[in-house]
Amino acid sequence: MRIAIGSDHAGFELKQQLADFLREGGHDVEDLGTTSDERVDYPDFGAAVGRAVASGDNELGLCVCGTGIGISIAANKVDGVRAAVVHDVTSARLAKEHNDANVVCLGARLVGPEVAQEAVHAFLSASWQEGRHAERVDKITALEHDRPCP
Ligand code: RB5
Repeated sequence: MRIAIGSDHAGFELKQQLADFLREGGHDVEDLGTTSDERVDYPDFGAAVGRAVASGDNELGLCVCGTGIGISIAANKVDGVRAAVVHDVTSARLAKEHNDANVVCLGARLVGPEVAQEAVHAFLSASWQEGRHAERVDKITALEHDRPCP
């Protein structure tokens, strides 16, 4: 799978670890930065990952900041992005099964590398369940252009 990844300074180290984890798993990783622990602004990287997914160049995105929250908010501003902050295997699995998330976000100040790896693995292993969830996701998509919900 082709996966775009990005982080701010707070998420840099965990991003690097997760990039290795993904590459070892055979994935094609597009690293959009940041490239050090020098202070940067997380919206720049959330937007870059969001665009890299919404454009179709990448199938999924992975974002890391201190909490996962700020970078997810930024990624979610890009039309077509459903970015989910996950904290563990269960939230990661459900983000894919129920929400069809296409960007998974983690907080490096909240979860350790092992939990993060397990969560990413769970996210990648899960399948979108569609069914009753599809109508709800369609309603989210409708919000992108402030259209009435279907
Ligand atoms: C950076 O200090 C921190 O605010 C950022 O990584 C993130 O947690 C924001 O949501």
